[in-house]
Amino acid sequence: MSTADPLLFSPITVRGLRFPNRAVLSPMVVYYAKDGFSNDLLFSHLSKFVMGGFGLVFTEAAAVEERGRISHGDLGIWKDEHIAPLRRFTDFARAHGTLSGLQLAHAGHKGSYQRAFEGYMPLGEADAARGDAPWETIAPSAMAYAPGVPEPREMTLDDIETVQAAWVTAAKRGLEAGFDVLEIHAAHGYLLHEFLSPLTNHRKDAYGGDLDGRMRFLLETTERVRGAWPDDKPLFVRLSVVDGAKRGWSVADSIVLTKALKARGVDVVDCSSGGTATLTREDALGREAGFQVPLAEALRKETGVPTVAVGLITEPEQAEAILQEGRADLIAIGRAALDDPNWALHASLALGDRLDFSAWPPEYGWWLERRARTAAKMGQKK
Ligand SMILES: Cc1cc2nc3c(=O)[nH]c(=O)nc-3n(C[C@H](O)[C@H](O)[C@H](O)COP(=O)(O)O)c2cc1C
Repeated sequence: MSTADPLLFSPITVRGLRFPNRAVLSPMVVYYAKDGFSNDLLFSHLSKFVMGGFGLVFTEAAAVEERGRISHGDLGIWKDEHIAPLRRFTDFARAHGTLSGLQLAHAGHKGSYQRAFEGYMPLGEADAARGDAPWETIAPSAMAYAPGVPEPREMTLDDIETVQAAWVTAAKRGLEAGFDVLEIHAAHGYLLHEFLSPLTNHRKDAYGGDLDGRMRFLLETTERVRGAWPDDKPLFVRLSVVDGAKRGWSVADSIVLTKALKARGVDVVDCSSGGTATLTREDALGREAGFQVPLAEALRKETGVPTVAVGLITEPEQAEAILQEGRADLIAIGRAALDDPNWALHASLALGDRLDFSAWPPEYGWWLERRARTAAKMGQKK
């Protein structure tokens, strides 16, 4: 491509790792996994985005502990046997010049749920009868995620050590599985976020109370994960930069946290929002195109840490403008990619020469370029 390439398709280097472009497949759980294992379905699903031109393709949240899953259909990395099927995906991505990312997560008190399309309710007797038994969940405080939902058990100091050790082992497994990028999921009301937010952390010990206390669990975990993840590989953290529009964790808190994460070797902050227990729809940020971009922009400007913008970014021109205006460094695409796994390839045509299929796999591009030229002669768009 020429020097006038759109920023979305310009490479960026983080810790010596070259990202071929700035389009990222956002982590999305699809419930194809069984007992935490990746399989043909999950491999095929993720491979579509590799073929579809994304520079970095993230797995869905992979649980660092079995009890850290949201549902029985979540991906996991709590045992060594999980490594081999994941390596199949990272090998495939590498062979196609695409980076692979592993998102590590622990659901905390948002675990033991049905899959979204089954109702997204806490698992109960009917679920157990069909093989999806509920399990005990853990959290910083014994506070249920929603009214009427079973309370989690408040974590002891031993639990904190056990869970942090699980994050480290999971990171090592991720390395063995061949991933290029690791992302710590500290957003959406899951365990790490539960510790951060004053709405869900009511602890009286060193892991609760003021901002320093509430940040302690994430910062210690990050430091330990960074120690297990090679210096030349990027570490991302996904944050809910705010709990809601007015209440709870704030942008100012996220700025303090991001500086502390940077000091512990975090390279990029992936900027999401919400997911906290007790918040109602009225508390949430208003949903509009790019509604979370101001969060990515604020953290980037105030801390100098590169950011990922995500959330209702659907149009190539919209993504390009966010980058051109210096509001974020990478663009994550979620649902628009479920709709169109070739989103990035289509964006490269939309932002560049509509007849230039060089970014496409040649097996497709050779044909499509000829079809596009014929269509152009006939005055058609496609
Ligand atoms: C089906 C689905 C599954 C998701 N699973 C995850 C996940 O595993 N981890 C995560 O951090 N976010 C998850 N998200 C949030 C997305 O990564 C993304 O932040 C969100 O969908 C907003 O981006 P979009 O408007 O481009 O879809 C999920 C979203 C969807 C639609």
